[in-house]
Amino acid sequence: MAAPWSPESWRSKPIVQVPDYPEPAALADVEQKLATFPPLVFAGEARELRRSLAEVADGRGFLLQGGDCAESFLEHGADNIRDFFRVFLQMAVVLTYAGGSPVVKVGRIAGQFAKPRSSSIEKQGDVELPSYRGDIVNGSEFTPEARIPDPHRQLQAYRQSAATLNLIRAFASGGYADLERVHQWNLGFVKDSPQGHRYQELADRISETLRFMRACGITSENTPQLRATRFYTSHEALLLGYEQALTRLDSTSGDYYATSGHMLWIGDRTRQPDHAHIEFARGVKNPIGLKCGPSIDADGLLRLIDALDPKNEAGRLTLICRFGADKVGSHLPKLVRAVARAGRKVVWSCDPMHGNTISAVTGYKTRPFDRILKEVEAFFDVHRAEGTHAGGIHVEMTGQNVTECTGGATAISETQLSDRYHTHCDPRLNADQSLELAFLVAERLKRDRVDAPPMAASASA
Ligand code: PEP
Ligand code: CO
Repeated sequence: MAAPWSPESWRSKPIVQVPDYPEPAALADVEQKLATFPPLVFAGEARELRRSLAEVADGRGFLLQGGDCAESFLEHGADNIRDFFRVFLQMAVVLTYAGGSPVVKVGRIAGQFAKPRSSSIEKQGDVELPSYRGDIVNGSEFTPEARIPDPHRQLQAYRQSAATLNLIRAFASGGYADLERVHQWNLGFVKDSPQGHRYQELADRISETLRFMRACGITSENTPQLRATRFYTSHEALLLGYEQALTRLDSTSGDYYATSGHMLWIGDRTRQPDHAHIEFARGVKNPIGLKCGPSIDADGLLRLIDALDPKNEAGRLTLICRFGADKVGSHLPKLVRAVARAGRKVVWSCDPMHGNTISAVTGYKTRPFDRILKEVEAFFDVHRAEGTHAGGIHVEMTGQNVTECTGGATAISETQLSDRYHTHCDPRLNADQSLELAFLVAERLKRDRVDAPPMAASASA
């Protein structure tokens, strides 16, 4: 029998990665306010996402999850959101059309603010300050004032999430995501790149298909699936006081849902089975992601699956693997076999970002694009060999023309990183690199489906 759960039961467990708020009374006051605010998402939407992810777990779809490493207060604006949304739509269309797979679209957006850190202290020269933990906690400037955790930032994060979500909902259902506009999603600076041309060709083929369908009487006016898209939000459930304040009892089901986003995930640093983050996540009914890095073993993983998904409900749990290109081959097969042997229904997703971060000679944190592609390829190879479904990718990306990850078709070099290095935390794929990755994954999805031996196909179906 599992111990009783409540939205605050995490408070009696050990916890890591918590900010040191100097004024607990001010924090409690903010949490109380948040608890009275309207939910950002609705429980029915989280259930719908779970059903879509259940299809993916059964081998009938693909999860595209991506967005900023950390959203920022300073860069909150319509252009940024629109540019992200467009590249994301482009990627989804490439995966759907070229890869031939339904795509579940989940952004790392509208709530992705809190960051775990490898050290609680940052040192520059002789000065030591508390680390930056994301705009929801403190400021990134290297000054003592900015680094003091300020609970009022949680109110700003809530409002920013609401505004972002509002615009995304408008884009998703108000006509912007209409497939008839497929050409307009190609961003200006990507248009003239090889990926942009490739996309243009694909968009031409889609338009031709749509003309044929229109001739048959199927149009975006009479078919909502062509006119609108389903887009879900997600973030790391790290700042548990904030999450608790936005956790609500759903009157329809009688279950608790985190209403700060549709899907929440537990980071690689906070997945200790007896700690607070797992305790919180086990009690909310949203789809949950679990980051799996090199330190997880098969027994540890099965224990976490038992805690987070005791009823073995397909779509509840997504295992987001982030081993690093060189470690996938030695770590992933054991986990995939153990999970299959235990009959667990999970979505396997690949985060090729967090295990491939290096320091460039110039001091910038970066990720070589070829390592990212290598990790994705290795992930697909393992699932193909095991007869399981490579169910998704999880990436840090932006619609902006940044220079944060090296390589890609435009061959960003280490010395070019300083040109447009804008991230508040980890290096992200720029629009061109994101699209290149989508084409690669689409090809792989198509190839694996065509080549799949009947046994493997039925094992994953
Ligand atoms: C992240 O997704 O930004 C992150 C910190 O990941 P991980 O927990 O896998 O290190
Ligand atoms: Co990150």
